[in-house]
Amino acid sequence: MTPPYPLGSSDREHRRLTAQARILRPWTERFLRRGGLRPGMSVLDLGSGIGDVSLLAAEIVGPRGRVLGLDRDPVIAEKARARAAREGLADVVRFEVADLQEFTAPRQFDAVIGRYVPLCQRDPAAALRRFVDCVRPGGIVVFRDFDVTNASPSWPKCPVWDGSYRLLSDVLRVTGATPDIGRRPSRCFMDAGLPHPVVESLTPVASAPGSPLLDGRRTAGTLGPVHYGARARVPRSTGAAPLGLGPQLP
Ligand SMILES: C[S@@+](CC[C@H](N)C(=O)[O-])C[C@H]1O[C@@H](n2cnc3c(N)ncnc32)[C@H](O)[C@@H]1O
Repeated sequence: MTPPYPLGSSDREHRRLTAQARILRPWTERFLRRGGLRPGMSVLDLGSGIGDVSLLAAEIVGPRGRVLGLDRDPVIAEKARARAAREGLADVVRFEVADLQEFTAPRQFDAVIGRYVPLCQRDPAAALRRFVDCVRPGGIVVFRDFDVTNASPSWPKCPVWDGSYRLLSDVLRVTGATPDIGRRPSRCFMDAGLPHPVVESLTPVASAPGSPLLDGRRTAGTLGPVHYGARARVPRSTGAAPLGLGPQLP
C-alpha cells in the first residue's frame, strides 16, 4: 500500500502547492526543456496535484501535444481540471484519478515526468519501475525532488524555519514516505530499470528583499532545501547495456 499524502487534501494545502509552483516554475520549465520536452509530445505526469507541472508541460507541448496528469486525490484532480479549462488548455491536458500502484497506462508516452512524487512513496524505485514500459523507446523520464533531511540552518536564526525542516522530515518518515530520496536519484533510476540519469542540483536562496521564501533583508544566508532533478532517455533498443536492474549497491 502507498502511504497517504502526508500534507493532506485541504484548500490550504492546495494554495500552498500553487504558491510553491510559482517559485519553482522557472527551474521546472528549464529542466523539462533540457530533459527533451518538445512541442507535439505526449506526456504522463505522475502525482499531478493541483496541476502546475501538467499545465506547464501542456504549454511546452502545445496544441499538437497531449498531457495526462495522474493523482489519486479526486478533489485535487477536479481543481486541476477546472484550472485547465480556465487557462484554455483543456484540449491538451487531462487529469485522471488513480493510484500510481494501480494505474495501467493505455499506451506508451513520449515522456514520463513528475515533481515531488518519488518523495511521497514508500519505495520510489518500485513506483517508477511500473512506468518504465510506459515510455516509448527513445522517450524521456524527467523527475525532480528535494532532500528534506539536508537542513541548512537559518541565519539570523529563525526557529520556525529550522523547526519546519525537522517536522516535515519526521512527518514524511512516520507516514512511510522517503524524505531523503533527493540525495539518491541515480540509484532510484537504476533500481527502476532506467538508464543512469543526468542529475542536477539547485538550492534556492532567501537573499533578496521581498523573497517569497523569507524576508531577504533578515536572512541573507538562509538556504532552502537542496533540490535534485534527474533525467534520462530510454534506449531505442531494449536490453541495451546502460539499463539498470543490475546488482544493488549498498
Ligand atoms: C507534493 S504533491 C506535488 C504535486 C505536483 N507534482 C507539484 O509539483 O505541484 C504530491 C502529489 O502526489 C500525489 N500522490 C502521491 N502519491 C501518489 C500515488 N501513489 N498515486 C497517485 N498520486 C499520488 C498526492 O496526492 C499529491 O497531490
